[in-house]
Amino acid sequence: MAAKFPEGFFWGGATAANQCEGAWNVDGRGPARTDVTTVGSATEPRYVTVKMPDGSTKKLAGLMFGAMPAGAHGVCLDGEYYPNHEGIDFYHHYKEDIALFAEMGFTMFRMSISWSRIFPKGIEEEPNQAGLEFYRNVFKGLRAYGIEPLVTISHYDTPLYIEEELGGWENREVIELFDRFTETLFREYRGLVKYWLTFNEINSLLMLKLFMPDAPLEFIQGNYQALHNQFVASARAVVRGHAIDPAYQIGCMIAGGPSSYPLTCDPKDILAAQHRNQESFWYSSDVMVRGAYPAFAHRMWRENGVELVMGENDLAELAVGTVDFISYSYYATNCETTHEGVEKDGKGNLVMGAKNPYLQYSDWGWSIDADGLRYTLNEIYGRYGIPVMVVENGLGAADTVEADGSIHDPYRIEYLRAHVQAMAEALDDGVDLIAYTPWGCIDLVAASTGEMHKRYGMIYVDRHDDGTGTFERRRKDSFFWYKKVIESNGSDLS
Ligand code: BG6
Repeated sequence: MAAKFPEGFFWGGATAANQCEGAWNVDGRGPARTDVTTVGSATEPRYVTVKMPDGSTKKLAGLMFGAMPAGAHGVCLDGEYYPNHEGIDFYHHYKEDIALFAEMGFTMFRMSISWSRIFPKGIEEEPNQAGLEFYRNVFKGLRAYGIEPLVTISHYDTPLYIEEELGGWENREVIELFDRFTETLFREYRGLVKYWLTFNEINSLLMLKLFMPDAPLEFIQGNYQALHNQFVASARAVVRGHAIDPAYQIGCMIAGGPSSYPLTCDPKDILAAQHRNQESFWYSSDVMVRGAYPAFAHRMWRENGVELVMGENDLAELAVGTVDFISYSYYATNCETTHEGVEKDGKGNLVMGAKNPYLQYSDWGWSIDADGLRYTLNEIYGRYGIPVMVVENGLGAADTVEADGSIHDPYRIEYLRAHVQAMAEALDDGVDLIAYTPWGCIDLVAASTGEMHKRYGMIYVDRHDDGTGTFERRRKDSFFWYKKVIESNGSDLS
């Protein structure tokens, strides 16, 4: 067995506001895009429902990120179900949920702030006090149990007004609005929060085109521009945060790790995988950790027909606003190939690729690859040499509640065990891994499909895809397993 987890290693779990809080129109909160996004399934996409300038309504697929069509306004349509409206009602259950996290022994809890709960449209001068109060209570609740909050400032949660009226992140003005938002948080929660992440899966904007191979040039250009603006906003947040409290530790959060493998040892496949990892992962991490675009960016821009519009000081801001640590979400790996006739039916978190014949796949088609976690940890730490956190990981699976109310989820335990073992190996490899917050430690609304029955939690929530359920919480077998893992600081995985 590899090295033990170091003293003080953070064990916990992760959530996001829009997927768990519910209370979408309560206490002054404004709407976000997820509030006009319908439920989907493994085969049916989620739709963003909008009203067009001519008064017609539309259901738009593939619009989880990227700009809203000009003139479109999000609306809720009769007969459609919007699962994020109520989520798992964490807003009203947070005390009970925190107590359950504490019972498992969590020392860290990753959560996000709903921007529109603090600034309902994103443009207000003054924050919504009720929103600030809610998060203050959550942080205090966590601290009372000695749980360190890890706060994602933006987790797919831009106020809808900014998306509709200002064109979203393609518009540089949003950098200023985000600055006001982050400054408010950094001042309000000083002493309650120490660890921050600026944007969840910031690289997701560049991964969209995998799902839209025929995406028009302006779409691609728009996403590169939006990402650039987010890089600047993130860098500014790092500087702002450190100025407000030098003890703040501010990190980036990037999806997937360099998780594309070559399907064969054909050098062309090696290059294809390298290229995919550069575009999907290193492009973003290099900017945020090293403070500059990597050399390969210039060719990427040229080949994609991208011309970034940069402000005079943007590059200087990127250079000084480098992060204190790097974090990423890790679920699965995929394969790249240049060979004809290979199906790209391997799915995953924002990725697609060829299936790996050596791996098993989940019911949602995501590969299960614990070695890939060790591999990506080594790649990331080897490149940057700064502390790393794995802030999402887990198995989305359907669970059954037995007649006696118990929930047996050996598949989830098996998945998590293998990944904890992989982290132990990576520690032994010398990686400075400091935290593990598996995704959806409590069941919540899936981001890609909007389903409840794609469950990641160690805590079961009685809520279903048709909106029924009592929101009652129950401990799954994995709850007791993870409690033991934490108690033994990762040495008892039985
Ligand atoms: C990541 C996101 O993409 O993966 C989460 O940061 C998301 O918001 C998670 O929930 C798992 O994906 P899904 O689609 O199974 O919920």
